Amino acid sequence: MPTHAITRRVLSAAIALLASSAALAADYPEKTITLVVPFSAGGPTDVVARILGQAMAKSLKQSIIVENALGAGGTLAAGRIARATPDGYTLLLHHNGMATSTTLYRKLAFNPMTDFEYIGQVADVPMVLMARKDLAANTLPELIAMIKSKKDAMTLGHAGLGAVSHQCGMLFLSAIGVPLTTVPYKGTAPALSDMLGGQIDLLCDQTTQTTSYIRTNRVKVYGATTKTRIPSLPALPTLAEQGMAGFEMYVWHGMYAPKGTPPAVVARIGTALREALNDPNVKARFAELGAEPVSDAKATPEGLRTHLKAEIDKWGPIYKKNGAFAD
Ligand code: MLT
Repeated sequence: MPTHAITRRVLSAAIALLASSAALAADYPEKTITLVVPFSAGGPTDVVARILGQAMAKSLKQSIIVENALGAGGTLAAGRIARATPDGYTLLLHHNGMATSTTLYRKLAFNPMTDFEYIGQVADVPMVLMARKDLAANTLPELIAMIKSKKDAMTLGHAGLGAVSHQCGMLFLSAIGVPLTTVPYKGTAPALSDMLGGQIDLLCDQTTQTTSYIRTNRVKVYGATTKTRIPSLPALPTLAEQGMAGFEMYVWHGMYAPKGTPPAVVARIGTALREALNDPNVKARFAELGAEPVSDAKATPEGLRTHLKAEIDKWGPIYKKNGAFAD
């Protein structure tokens, strides 16, 4: 076949593809969108997803259902979205684990830097270090002393390797130099429920889940993991101000679509995300739970890509040095 005929065919195929993706974008969304959360229902990521999903549904004039796809510290859900049909009807809300799991898992079914379209960052959430209500230690120094003397009898719950509760718990234990038996769950909702029932002792968890338990005195809380006090829990000192200088951990969230989702669809979802983050009801609900919506500039594909890359570059060498891996 002559070269000009091949060129014509390639061109018409490209034009047809562009036309079909433009048509898809023009009609989008014409059916329910699924927002996948990699951890348990009722937990902190789920709470953020449901607040956001409701507001984005208003903007998109289409319903958004939240689906909890559990397992392997969030990596199963991320792998599933990486392979989903790239049509804007399956999205993922994930947190720090998107960056840390690249180093923590030797075998991963996705590459965070190449397998997704980025919608944008979402919100930042502080964490708190807590224990079951009847634990005898009332202050951080008492807790540290108790862990040191009873380390073989104490347990720390978390939501798996790649979960922020795991990362936070490990940062705390390595700062005080004492390893504890850890108990993995598929989210911190079941971990908290076990802690309330006295099955585990400690949990480092996000304020999007813990705020009401702290306010109603159903858990013992020792400190915030953030650099400065949490505005919605002003009486709670940070771990850093109680002598753990430099201790800082907060949870950031990103929204992702499968690679190949048409740019106009990504842009439409992005607009809905920014509208939701500026919605006064969302802002009020987030503020009550200690969550801070990101700026419009961060709630963009570039905002998320830049942050994700920086987090991979930050945590990769730390985890490699400490040899913390899953198979
Ligand atoms: C959850 O939603 O259960 C948490 O985000 C899990 C975690 O990463 O600690």
